[in-house]
Amino acid sequence: MKTKKILSNYFIGLDQFLHQKLPSNNLYQPIAYTFNLGGKSIRPFFLLYSYKIFGGNGKQINQVALALESLHNFSLIHDDVMDNAEKRRGKLSVQKKWNSNTAILSGDALLIICFQLLNSISFKNKKEIIKEFTDSALKICEGQQLDLEMEKKIVIDKKEYFRMIELKTAALFIFCFKMGCHLAGGDFSNQKKMEQIGLQIGLLFQIQDDYLDFFGTKKIGKKIGQDVLENKKTFLFCELLDCISKTNKKEFISKYNNKKTEPIKKIKYVEALFKRHDIKNKTLLKINDINSVIHGLINDLSISRNNKENFKKYINQLSKRNN
Ligand code: IPE
Ligand code: IPE
Ligand code: MG
Ligand code: MG
Ligand code: MG
Repeated sequence: MKTKKILSNYFIGLDQFLHQKLPSNNLYQPIAYTFNLGGKSIRPFFLLYSYKIFGGNGKQINQVALALESLHNFSLIHDDVMDNAEKRRGKLSVQKKWNSNTAILSGDALLIICFQLLNSISFKNKKEIIKEFTDSALKICEGQQLDLEMEKKIVIDKKEYFRMIELKTAALFIFCFKMGCHLAGGDFSNQKKMEQIGLQIGLLFQIQDDYLDFFGTKKIGKKIGQDVLENKKTFLFCELLDCISKTNKKEFISKYNNKKTEPIKKIKYVEALFKRHDIKNKTLLKINDINSVIHGLINDLSISRNNKENFKKYINQLSKRNN
């Protein structure tokens, strides 16, 4: 995505934060390491983009974007402990490069830094920003708890799946779109529409994440097939359950929920079933459907036609992401 221009001031702020504000000792090193691994910076981008299309032109928004990406990075550092993940953004995860204690403590420090960053802004709606930010942060934890519980559940349905990803992933996207609009002075009706857009983009984004975990390439910077090895209840898992016969279902459930099977054997077994039931295309169709819903919601916004078309282009690009 061509996001550089919109993110340029954000990156200047990030650079200052990393080089001037962040102490260089063992507590903070894993934080700098995580930021320096890059990442797509998609949440800061969407916050700044939403702010821009509703006429915002202040600089303080970049500080909110930095707090937002810090919250995201905090969630990733802890998520890799919870998911036993060895790789993140093409390099070793913090828990692997250091250890899980370091990941827990540095993650905690980063979460606290988020609030320091927010506290230093001078927006007139600071109180509201902190409320929305705090609510989203808690929702991430609620979603991550459901994600862990589902690892232990042998089956779940799509409704449970969507509730889990609405919390663990979409909550932060909702913050981006709603608050970008609100802080730029967008009215209540547009804020509500942007909230819906954030929700749908968040859902689309996590379904893609599940898809790429199995069908992606090394571009994703994570270990392919990790969700299957961790018994994660992904969109692919739910989709397969929806179309598999009763007899095969029993065997699938018992094999999927076994962490002791040799990894290659487990992946091969799941791969064959996904292939037989066309799970790859079914997931891509779902991504396409959500993309259309988002286009419809964008049409309803009170922004210029040009902005609507551009917005849709970004969503189309996002729908085809491979990392
Ligand atoms: C990964 O997020 C975690 C999810 C919520 C799916 P990203 O795919 O945005 O990760 P980075 O920041 O680009 O590495
Ligand atoms: C994580 O979902 C969502 C977060 C809140 C961090 P995943 O566990 O699927 O994210 P990845 O695949 O490790 O990036
Ligand atoms: Mg996880
Ligand atoms: Mg994970
Ligand atoms: Mg994932």
